Amino acid sequence: GLSASAALARRPSITGAELRSAVPLPPPFQVPLPLPSVLKPVSTSGGVDRYEITQREASAEILPGVRTPLWTYEGTFPGPTIESRRGRPVTVSHRNELPVPTAVHLHGGRTPADSDGYPTDLVLPEGWQEHSMHMGHGSGHGMHDPRAVVTELTRDYTFPLDQRPTLLWYHDHRMDFTAPAIWRGLAGLHVIRDDAEDSLGLPAGRRELPLAIADRAFAADGSLDYPALDPTLRERPGVRGSYLAGVLGDVILVNGAPWPVHEVDAARYRLRILNASNARHYELEAVTDDGRQLDLVQIGADQGLLAAPVTHRLLPMAPAERYDVVIDFSRVPVGSRVRLLNRLGAGRTGEVMAFRVARTAADDSRIPRTLSNDLPTWRRADAVRVRDFSFRAGRMGGGHGWLIGGLPFDPARSDVTVRLGDVEVWRLVADVHHPVHLHLVGFRVLSRGGRPPLPHDAGLKDTISLRPGESAEIITRFDGYRGRYLFHCHNAEHEDMGMMANLEIV
Ligand code: C2O
Ligand code: CU
Repeated sequence: GLSASAALARRPSITGAELRSAVPLPPPFQVPLPLPSVLKPVSTSGGVDRYEITQREASAEILPGVRTPLWTYEGTFPGPTIESRRGRPVTVSHRNELPVPTAVHLHGGRTPADSDGYPTDLVLPEGWQEHSMHMGHGSGHGMHDPRAVVTELTRDYTFPLDQRPTLLWYHDHRMDFTAPAIWRGLAGLHVIRDDAEDSLGLPAGRRELPLAIADRAFAADGSLDYPALDPTLRERPGVRGSYLAGVLGDVILVNGAPWPVHEVDAARYRLRILNASNARHYELEAVTDDGRQLDLVQIGADQGLLAAPVTHRLLPMAPAERYDVVIDFSRVPVGSRVRLLNRLGAGRTGEVMAFRVARTAADDSRIPRTLSNDLPTWRRADAVRVRDFSFRAGRMGGGHGWLIGGLPFDPARSDVTVRLGDVEVWRLVADVHHPVHLHLVGFRVLSRGGRPPLPHDAGLKDTISLRPGESAEIITRFDGYRGRYLFHCHNAEHEDMGMMANLEIV
């Protein structure tokens, strides 16, 4: 057997093996950008917005001329967007008509533990046999502690949404199987707004675009290609991609469409970008036809508005990170194009989407110099504890996996116990690229590589991209709710291969 680190050493540091689609790919910037539909509540009485989502198989014409079978929320990929107001509770009733159990997590939500989508709190499909839940793949812990397993046929998730307005996303979180479930389509957006943000005058309405970027690969018949989960099949000739390193596809989708194009006014647009990829990192730049880089004015991070805008030319994005960015298309001639490119890609994976500047237009939007003044200002001296966590490859069961502090995920083990209300500093260190995500809380980046944080670390985060060999310090207050939460790597394959730990708040 090859050790995980040896296998990784043979690959470029931030990439897994790339899957190559076996179907003809469309030329770039031809398919119109789809905007996910906004889900209508089934009821708004009693001060609660109530939604119903059926998880079911569906298919879509993602690539021209072929149909792609998907696992979906409500029949679409991405799933429908939920629009909420800060502090107004939402209940989402999920019904599982897929062939497998699922768990739903609202990423970035300040959610009570029983609605947080713990990986063994399953929504079962009709007729699912209990014993088939124990056929975990190579992650070596298929036999769960049955006491940790909660199972239902439908499930109501309740979200107080008493938190800063921002772009969240919901996605599958079933233990050992999160990565393939997201790859097959189980992801959607959830936006929280409030009056303070609405009054800022930021670009809005059709000048606010959600952009969920995700790579995929396609088999000749249009179905999604994904390496076998069975470790004995992974090395089979013809099976490409690495479940261990993280799976990368050669097709870049935005809101489910390959390399789309969107017609815009010569005006400011607010782009709410999510990296919904399993393992692919991007370095985004907006490039004009004559090769100039446009400013990407960052106004918000994972957990809402920054204190003040930060201007980037290149914006690195790890899986699960969100950046709220304004681009001013009045800076290019009408009739020209602005391409959103990925500096970390090569060939087609270096292209993301394009904007065609169609017409001049009035623009009364603005980017205020002060965006928010409610960001937490925790200082090192506020912390009652400093903890260290390593994110590294290592042995897991009889094979190889990804470990936090030397251990693979075990739902029956308590890893970290924190007192409600405590401020803590966590020092994180990585061997290869690991985007580290904490449930329940937002955090601030105190340092990176022993130096001050980078410009894109600004604001309140819930996911931090640790680069190969890098360490970082984050600070947060664990408030909100007591209960069992998680922290993990958001390379979805790493997460399935053990890189997750329990965070108990007492
Ligand atoms: Cu995006 Cu634990 O989740
Ligand atoms: Cu990782």
